[in-house]
Amino acid sequence: MTGLDAARVERWLAVVPERRSRRSFTGERPEAKVLTALEDVARSFRPFGELARAVVIRDVPPGLFMGIVGAYGGVSGAPCALAFVGPAGETHSRAAVGYTGEGLVLEATALGLDTCWVGGLFSGAAAEQLAGVSPDERVFAVAAVGTAAERVTAKERILFKSGRPRRRKPIETIAPGLQEWPAWAQRGVEAAHVAPSATNRQPWRFFMHEGAMVVSVDGADTPKISKRLDCGIAMLHFELGARAAGCAGRWELSDAPDVARWVPTG
Ligand SMILES: Cc1cc2nc3c(=O)[nH]c(=O)nc-3n(C[C@H](O)[C@H](O)[C@H](O)COP(=O)(O)O)c2cc1C
Repeated sequence: MTGLDAARVERWLAVVPERRSRRSFTGERPEAKVLTALEDVARSFRPFGELARAVVIRDVPPGLFMGIVGAYGGVSGAPCALAFVGPAGETHSRAAVGYTGEGLVLEATALGLDTCWVGGLFSGAAAEQLAGVSPDERVFAVAAVGTAAERVTAKERILFKSGRPRRRKPIETIAPGLQEWPAWAQRGVEAAHVAPSATNRQPWRFFMHEGAMVVSVDGADTPKISKRLDCGIAMLHFELGARAAGCAGRWELSDAPDVARWVPTG
């Protein structure tokens, strides 16, 4: 499986350093053509087929996002959203939803929009109705989409790009032995290092095994917002970095405690 050609790798990797979760939005509506472009990607980017899909919610009704504004979970003023949907009973859908959803988040970023994944504090019933889910599907998470109230200034963007440290675990913690790995693996892990995760918990761990990159979870999974979903997000980032370094490949989804393996194909 893959939905990533060279143009998309370049487009999405370019915005990895500047994506930040933004929680306060102006309410200003994105231009219709921007939303149409996002919808086109939501319809066509289905790398895991039935396991995951994204739906653009053009008009966020009051009550979709819950929680105390300003506190963790509080998103205010977002005019639009993305809903990330998959079959409820399929373990593999969690990683597929994370991967597919982050594709839409990076596309929204490339279109000049601000975003924030929201995994817990949203109304599941409202999201399911808006996304038109079938009885065996579930909305695993949503993302707020719009224009952030205080835009990141040009100076901040330069600072972020020049490597100002984010609140991230040391790279050796998520990828022990990284220095010994091939360049594509190192580049992939660097892109995964800055991936978003619920409560910034960064549950992904990377190991090389028989020439493939194994992604696994740091310990037991959590029922409400699955760590496997976070790992799916990191998988997309990893693939962007690995492909940019010239490593074509494909994902094989795995059973717990592993999440998936990236198998180079050439
Ligand atoms: C699956 C998922 C769920 C999240 N849920 C929330 C949430 O409910 N509320 C919130 O304010 N941020 C949420 N976030 C955003 C994370 O807190 C954020 O990604 C993390 O702190 C890293 O910051 P960054 O995205 O700016 O790099 C979520 C992120 C992910 C990936």
